[in-house]
Amino acid sequence: MNKVIVTGGLGYIGSHTAVELSEKFQVVIVDDLSNSSIEVLEGINEISNSTPIFEKLDLKNKNEVKKLFDKHKDAIGLIHFAAYKAVGESVENPLKYYENNLSSLIYILQEIDKLNHSFNLIFSSSCTVYGQAESLPITEEETIKKAESPYGNTKQISEEILFDYARTNPKINITALRYFNPIGAHHSANIGELPLGIPQNLVPFITQTAAGIHQKLTVFGNDYNTPDGTCIRDYIHVVDLAEVHIVALEYLIEKRNQDNYNVYNVGTGKGSSVLEVIECFVKNTGVKLNYEIGKRRKGDVESAYADNSKAKEDLNWSPKYSLDDAILSAWKWEKKIRG
Ligand code: NAD
Ligand code: WQD
Repeated sequence: MNKVIVTGGLGYIGSHTAVELSEKFQVVIVDDLSNSSIEVLEGINEISNSTPIFEKLDLKNKNEVKKLFDKHKDAIGLIHFAAYKAVGESVENPLKYYENNLSSLIYILQEIDKLNHSFNLIFSSSCTVYGQAESLPITEEETIKKAESPYGNTKQISEEILFDYARTNPKINITALRYFNPIGAHHSANIGELPLGIPQNLVPFITQTAAGIHQKLTVFGNDYNTPDGTCIRDYIHVVDLAEVHIVALEYLIEKRNQDNYNVYNVGTGKGSSVLEVIECFVKNTGVKLNYEIGKRRKGDVESAYADNSKAKEDLNWSPKYSLDDAILSAWKWEKKIRG
């Protein structure tokens, strides 16, 4: 089996991808546990057919990255999930975000640069690079405006670093995947999202409120220019998102790509409002949800959903799961972790 390194492989999206990936590749998970726990490895092992190798290390330590590549010089690719991702915290502490998200990427590229064989890199980017798009659904051609947050800026800068580097190294193939809003959990409920502290994202806040951890959910504004006044997003099941990494990697391995740097939107193509997500939760679970309408949250864009036709056409990928499936899996996971 070909070996693939998965940085941030114990995190939310990385763990789901490691499970899918281990069916076809030998997986090396790298994580410093800064936003995850070692128990996730047990969850992955329970679901997977093969047992991934685990390397606990901090990718902002250049020497550790060098050791990783020395040890796994036979790897044919790397999926780079590891990053800090809390938008609000990045505004409070921008240097923490620039240091971690950019230095880890640069050190990885410096090691890839030393390799004599061709190498395939998949990078976790985000729809946050678009901000409020001029036209919907959002295509990859949408103009990239100044980022709303240091976190968003790390994704914009990372894409530029990757683009510039790809031009200098014909042996590297790079794909940046711009995820829309990942939600849900593996159907086994052995792995899922584990937000630290009070969740900022809608779906974990809904499931935690329904589980009695919070008294109520606040809907951040109902005076937007949308059919029900609440913001619209493209919520994608994390298992569908995991799957796109496998097909994107295979696409590069099979050398079906024309350019050595490519960008894809990864979303369902369907927008749902905050109230629709709440309704979906209540309808599918039969659990009541206490919520109130509050003020707008600073920095929120009104509507964002993907034009995913490029990923569909090139990668022959389509999302399989509905919003109902994703919400139900998130609820199953919430109930499991609350015992
Ligand atoms: P996550 O925090 O659950 O996972 C990231 C993992 O990386 C964590 O396990 C953390 O411990 C690890 N990590 C962070 N810095 C590290 C370092 N220096 N060395 C080693 N490990 C390190 O996040 P996620 O939701 O799984 O997101 C994965 C990627 O996808 C991130 O790059 C994120 O920016 C991007 N993304 C996430 C979303 C989302 O809504 N979850 C949306 C778009 C893009
Ligand atoms: C979704 C909608 C909120 C919580 C964030 C990051 C983005 C990307 C994905 C990494 C919005 C509303 C939320 C609540 C609410 N991550 N909401 N009450 O803001 O689209 O994107 O995660 O790259 O960079 O910014 O996702 O889940 O926070 O919010 O009404 O308690 O739910 O206003 O309309 P968002 P979200």
